Amino acid sequence: MEEKRAVIFDLDGVLTDTADFHYLAWQALADDEGLPFDRAANEHLRGVSRRDSLLLILGDRQVEEDVLNEMMDRKNKLYLESLEHMGPEDALPGARELVEDARRRGLLVAIGSSSKNARFVLDKLGLSDAFDAVADGTSIDRAKPAPDLFLKAAEMLGVEPSSCIVVEDAASGVDAALAAGMTVVGVGPHDRVGHAHHRVDTTADIDLSVVLADGSR
Ligand code: BG6
Ligand code: MG
Repeated sequence: MEEKRAVIFDLDGVLTDTADFHYLAWQALADDEGLPFDRAANEHLRGVSRRDSLLLILGDRQVEEDVLNEMMDRKNKLYLESLEHMGPEDALPGARELVEDARRRGLLVAIGSSSKNARFVLDKLGLSDAFDAVADGTSIDRAKPAPDLFLKAAEMLGVEPSSCIVVEDAASGVDAALAAGMTVVGVGPHDRVGHAHHRVDTTADIDLSVVLADGSR
């Protein structure tokens, strides 16, 4: 019997572009708290969990656990407000077609997203029923760059990690997928995802036939 193969998609930055919404919410929190933050600093938060993002923004500032939780809630409230008008038109160009193409080729498809809002965002995009499995920020303890999230997605699908292709836009996500022993397609510039096996500028540039034909992986 032929071995099952799968594509595991990161969500933010691959299927939709939420980076600016995350940025604006973190910026508002940082401004409230008098913490230095800007767009350049936000680039380092791509793919990073909510908690790890806040710890990076706090830098040397030590806060109690309840303060940390309140700050994360405050940021998330702002983030969710900004998603209020999100709809199916906010899927990135080529995203929907890529998922459909994977299915047509007989591949299983899953989400592997650090976000605890992944199901909400998928619902907004009209993609709730498009995946065989959803592994998100609520599924694991150790966030990317640990391999856990992608390994969890593979386990949910019943597919060997070495038979999974991950599509990622974040450096930490590429690290996580490599650590999981998966084939990785990086979406974005060389300095961010150049360590992936394949690299493209945008989601619309991904050609699954090229990735699947690469016998070296
Ligand atoms: C990732 C985003 O997908 O999810 C990060 O790239 C974000 O910017 C992380 O911090 C966690 O998201 P959430 O929705 O759980 O705060
Ligand atoms: Mg991402």
